[in-house]
Amino acid sequence: MQSEDIRKKFLNFFKSKEHLIVDSAPMVVKDDPTLMFNNAGMNQFKDYFLGNRKAPENRIADTQKCLRVSGKHNDLEEVGRDSYHHTMFEMLGNWSFGDYFKKEAIDWAWELLVDHFGLDPDRLYATVFAGDHTDGLEADTEAEQLWQSHLPGDRILRFDKKDNFWEMGDTGPCGPCSEIHIDLRSDTQRQAIAGISLVNKDHPLVVEIWNLVFIQYNRLADGSLQDLPEKHVDTGMGFERLVMAIQQKQSNYDTDVFQPVISFIEDKSGVKYGASYDESAKSDIAMRVLADHSRAVAIAIADGCIPSNTGAGYVIRRILRRAIRYAYSYLQIRNPFVYQITDVWCTYFKEVFPELSKQKDYIKKIIQEEEKSFLRTISGGLNRLSQVDTSRGVIDGKIAFELYDTYGFPLDLTNLIAGERGIKVDEDGFNQALEAQRKRSRADAQKQVGDWTQVGHVDETRFVGYDQLVVDRVHVSKYRTVTIKDKSQYQLVLDQTCFYAEAGGQVGDTGIIRFGDEAIQVLDTTKENQLIIHQVDRLPKTPDVEGCAKIDTERRKCIEANHSATHLLHAALRQVLGSHVEQRGSLVDADHLRFDFSHFQKVTDKELGEIEMLVNKKIRENIEKGDFRDLPIDEAKKMGAMMLFGEKYGSRVRMITFDASYSVELCGGCHVARTGDIGLFKIKSESSIAAGIRRIEALTGEAALSYVTQLEQSVLTVKKLIKNPNTIQDNVKSLLDENKLLKKQIAQLRQKQAGSLADTLSSKIEKHRDFNLLAAVVDVPDANVLKSLVFDLLKKESNLIVLLGAQVGPKVLLMIGVDKSLCTAHSIHAGELIKPIAARVRGGGGGQAFFATAGGSDPSKLQASILEGKEEILAAMTH
Ligand code: SER
Repeated sequence: MQSEDIRKKFLNFFKSKEHLIVDSAPMVVKDDPTLMFNNAGMNQFKDYFLGNRKAPENRIADTQKCLRVSGKHNDLEEVGRDSYHHTMFEMLGNWSFGDYFKKEAIDWAWELLVDHFGLDPDRLYATVFAGDHTDGLEADTEAEQLWQSHLPGDRILRFDKKDNFWEMGDTGPCGPCSEIHIDLRSDTQRQAIAGISLVNKDHPLVVEIWNLVFIQYNRLADGSLQDLPEKHVDTGMGFERLVMAIQQKQSNYDTDVFQPVISFIEDKSGVKYGASYDESAKSDIAMRVLADHSRAVAIAIADGCIPSNTGAGYVIRRILRRAIRYAYSYLQIRNPFVYQITDVWCTYFKEVFPELSKQKDYIKKIIQEEEKSFLRTISGGLNRLSQVDTSRGVIDGKIAFELYDTYGFPLDLTNLIAGERGIKVDEDGFNQALEAQRKRSRADAQKQVGDWTQVGHVDETRFVGYDQLVVDRVHVSKYRTVTIKDKSQYQLVLDQTCFYAEAGGQVGDTGIIRFGDEAIQVLDTTKENQLIIHQVDRLPKTPDVEGCAKIDTERRKCIEANHSATHLLHAALRQVLGSHVEQRGSLVDADHLRFDFSHFQKVTDKELGEIEMLVNKKIRENIEKGDFRDLPIDEAKKMGAMMLFGEKYGSRVRMITFDASYSVELCGGCHVARTGDIGLFKIKSESSIAAGIRRIEALTGEAALSYVTQLEQSVLTVKKLIKNPNTIQDNVKSLLDENKLLKKQIAQLRQKQAGSLADTLSSKIEKHRDFNLLAAVVDVPDANVLKSLVFDLLKKESNLIVLLGAQVGPKVLLMIGVDKSLCTAHSIHAGELIKPIAARVRGGGGGQAFFATAGGSDPSKLQASILEGKEEILAAMTH
């Protein structure tokens, strides 16, 4: 069975058990500050488990794009070295939200694996939770008994919390779990060593394939467990491992998921894949690393996350760089390569994740640019390494750390290069430096999130801020304190609110909540999944009284104008530049708007003019906003709404239009009632932020007007300065031309001056037996003239040594020129001769044998120093 059919069969099976099949959420998480990437299928459903929101259906199944390279689940260093860990992987899952529980989860898992996928029941094992004293939890005998109807008792094993209690992170939904493991070894191996002894022992062929989690608790920040109001099922099956089991392969990389990529890498690199897992089989490891990482990076970019220096972008950059390093070190690949693998993944994922093939060129371009720049960094690092002192046969630990920190060289790469040069790396020193840095960043990141104190129970805050800027009767549903580096921040959740929480590029609202005569400032409003959190300056003294919430309306109006202008701009860009323009990022605050979009060259001034003109035309048309809430997504699509890659859409959406034939967008943000409210739109700048991504920054309303006024003021000032001509452009241009001409004339004059000075000086040359000498103080305007004077004199007179000094402003300039034939014959060196002369005028300098320059700060000693210098030169020549 091909992997594609396996995926389909899984989903169809759960469809037949009345599950709603949903799309994978984007791999990159946008609205949960506790998580950068989805690391399990259940992440997108976290709010349903916690009771913050009601699930649309109580049975759901999907395949989820997951990434495990940061936080609690981090497998990065394993990848490539073994046969079954990945950075990105697909997790097949089925969920029950307060519906079925252990029995169905276990029975269906068995039915699917054995009856439908045909896995050999003799090779399967089940594990269950053994209980935990500290958490006060008993062993899961219920699951144990349920398994007995499928498996003999000796193949049902108990394991402790580490293996059989699943938690998403340090806090959050969790519960005991029951895993299904499979033994894929040959019969002979199975006879020699019983599979039972290898379960949970990191054996590459005795692996976990499916994890059935029975979610029933919420882990609180103090470590305790709180019962959830309902019981849920969360299962996760590693797709790649399942395929390996069904296709009876020895490794995930041997399945049809990875084979096309491995062959592609073989073809392009000319290296054969040996499928060896020996630590010394470096090229095999490198191929697996490339296969795995190229997939993770392409998907992350497709989901809107580009490599960068911070946050999620930094994680992606690290993965990509790991791939580049392996290719560089073990496959001798010196040119951008990873980007080419994208093609293979686009074909493979054409049906299930079409966001890849649809953005193929864009993804490739981003990866290729990143590769180019990292390959340059690698050669920079190699240069740095070639400069360090390795005479003791060791690379200092601090240097190894600098290479790691600045150039992204991990210790193994430095070791490899050192090995090639027959030297060692001071690993202890490296580890000490690394530990010191870790300590620093731990101290920086100290953040303690307190538990919520529940005041009134509310499932989901009602957001009324599209229509109301004030809400009279609000009640606190819960609050908590977050401490960052000893500073406390306070957070409030209300039953209803007019405060918009930062999302979709639009900043959060600020304002005031009054409880009786106490006024609490809302400093910002943010979102954690669906939870609307008011960041407040303090907690209310009496949180159980009714309050009144009011946002800063002036600020909100500016935000709305900027947001609506962003929509008008997006439509104008597509109209003027073409429909390849897609939104890549957006920021809307009270002061300005910033819009990033795909476009492969600079937007010309003419195009910018047209775009600005079009947006302002739409503003003047004073178009009324179309605000469609709770619209079925198919209807929105029919009306032309564009789905953005990397965004998560439910089955019902909100759609905003400004003239349905001009701007139609899916958007959860706040907008003006009519485009006329925007007033004026002015583009401030257009620039490039990454390969193929342009950025426009613009202003609206009063901010746009003040900007234009300021521009006008500076033009008027310039106009006055140049005596009010009819056209400033012509006038400034002729001033610049004139200036250029004058500069040229001055330079010519100076050269001439130097020429005649050279004539005068020639007469002062002293003739000696086999050389000629001139030492003089001259009057010149700058160093350039002095230099041409020296070279003019050298040209005029053969066998000449010339020492000239000049005072320019408060400084002294010194130069020595020596005819090249004298340098060798008398072994004299201008750079050496000039040093004592410069020292006497309190300065320093140096240079080559035939020419040297110096500066000094004591002009009163200039004459004397030149005379003494002359004597020194004579002495040097006659010795
Ligand atoms: N959440 C569980 C896991 O990630 C099951 O989906 O393993």
